[in-house]
Amino acid sequence: MAQPVNQDEQMSHPRKIIIDCDPGQDDAIALLLALASPEDISVLGVTVVAGNVPLHLTERNARAVCELAGTGPIPVFAGCDAPLQRKLVTAEHVHGATGLDGPPLPEPQQPLETTHAVDFIIETLRREPSGTVTLCPLGPLTNIATALRRAPDIAPRIQEIVLMGGAYFEVGNITPAAEFNIYVDPEAADIVFRCGAPLVVMPLDVTHKALTSPSRIRAFRNMGTTAGQMVAEWADFFERFDIAKYGGNGAPLHDPCVIAWLIRPDLFTGRHINVEIETRSELTLGMTVADWWGVTDRTPNALFMGHLDADGFFALLTERIARL
Ligand code: BDR
Ligand code: CA
Repeated sequence: MAQPVNQDEQMSHPRKIIIDCDPGQDDAIALLLALASPEDISVLGVTVVAGNVPLHLTERNARAVCELAGTGPIPVFAGCDAPLQRKLVTAEHVHGATGLDGPPLPEPQQPLETTHAVDFIIETLRREPSGTVTLCPLGPLTNIATALRRAPDIAPRIQEIVLMGGAYFEVGNITPAAEFNIYVDPEAADIVFRCGAPLVVMPLDVTHKALTSPSRIRAFRNMGTTAGQMVAEWADFFERFDIAKYGGNGAPLHDPCVIAWLIRPDLFTGRHINVEIETRSELTLGMTVADWWGVTDRTPNALFMGHLDADGFFALLTERIARL
């Protein structure tokens, strides 16, 4: 098991991460937050997976967003184009046909890396000192599970896996019982939740508190920068679906919660509990069965978040996006 890194070490060096994503407007905002935070985070690479839309679109979107950040070249690696053993389910109804509908985004100039995302994950974890690389999955867990299956030696070398997925009190968003990222590839999620690496989970219970509002979106628009304008327009686009669905105030910025936790863990509270994935029942496929109330003696395997200081979260996001 990776030992926690020395406190001084963590304070003086940005945390090395790999962002595994399927952009997605909220993935895109998470990427910008990470790239705008070099004192806290060093992005070793971005790996993409099929999820919100097919792989040829998620890889294009990831490259375009990294270029938009304008913080220097970030290598982008394409990974798995389908779940481990199921047909891909996508979410164009939420994110639009491109996955990143809303404002037009210039075609990226930066080429895709030729290395497969799974190889990049394995090679990076083997190359870097044990316990110094954090994985940040923001989409279905296919790439991470494939890496763990192919190279089990990497599990004890992972500093932490901080992921967006699952739900307990909020139950589901793609089915009545399941959250999208886990539902798309439940077998992959099962592998990740059993892998033994320290796990931090941002479920819908938290991300449904990270809601946009007219004044929060205005703060991005008022920056007068391209990045601020894009974030505002992505949020506008993303919002229309969630407001129609939940009838509430705004759209949940799911994936940026992962990156925000790396920078300001004090904004979140949760419980270290056992979480297992339903892979057999058709009715509840992909459910994250979270022992929030401690009613079993199953071994805790995840820090499962429940609460978020939403004002603090948006203050952080606004301050960082304004830097780009
Ligand atoms: C998750 O599903 C995707 O649509 C979002 O990008 C987020 O990662 C929320 O359920
Ligand atoms: Ca996502």
